Amino acid sequence: MIIGNWKMNTARADALALAEAVANMRHQDSTRVGICPPALWIDPISQVLEGSSILLGAQDCIGDQFGAQTGCINAAMAADAGCSMAILGHSERRARFGETTESLLPAVAAVLETGMFPVFCVGETQIERESGRALDVVAEQIRPLLSVGLDISGMVIAYEPVWAIGTGLSATRLDIEEMHATVRDVLGRADALVLYGGSVSPESAEDVFSAEGVSGALVGGASLNADKFAAIVAAWERK
Ligand code: 13P
Repeated sequence: MIIGNWKMNTARADALALAEAVANMRHQDSTRVGICPPALWIDPISQVLEGSSILLGAQDCIGDQFGAQTGCINAAMAADAGCSMAILGHSERRARFGETTESLLPAVAAVLETGMFPVFCVGETQIERESGRALDVVAEQIRPLLSVGLDISGMVIAYEPVWAIGTGLSATRLDIEEMHATVRDVLGRADALVLYGGSVSPESAEDVFSAEGVSGALVGGASLNADKFAAIVAAWERK
């Protein structure tokens, strides 16, 4: 699975052109490819993607039902607009809006209830890694998901070390393998889909994908360029 997270990028015309290019990109049936554009462009992009195999996702949503929540979109709206997934708990939202796994549980439940799947992000900061706490921190970010009786078997986890996001730095193969094994251990599911994210590019993809236990990538910056995104998909399919 290769998912592009466009973050707060693309003017409307650029978004539609990029979606069109991704829709025309060739990929194997066994590779699931998706894009998560800014919320405002989800609806027009769902029309661009009609008839294509590209999955559409929201970058975030909240768990509330319809109501007085200025500036928010809920899971039902994202699903209604054509999304089949929603990123939740991205480190940029954890850092800026104080989101925690606990506070995200209603969103996780709401996303699952709509039939979408969450792409739930976890990852340690540089200080946490340097102090040897990376595995514990990520385990703690996952554990609350297990405590509320949700069926999270369809959930995708994205391991995104915070220090690797947008920096050109990537975790080592061994660190990725160790973390992905830990994620599956904590989930108690050997078959869980665990993506890697953090400066995945056409240059780094081969190395990242050679790590055991990587189910694909959550791609930020490089997903804004259709050729680079296609090159990452191609690297995945060569592995
Ligand atoms: P970059 O690929 O730009 O480092 O971003 C990764 C990311 O945060 C994807 O969600």
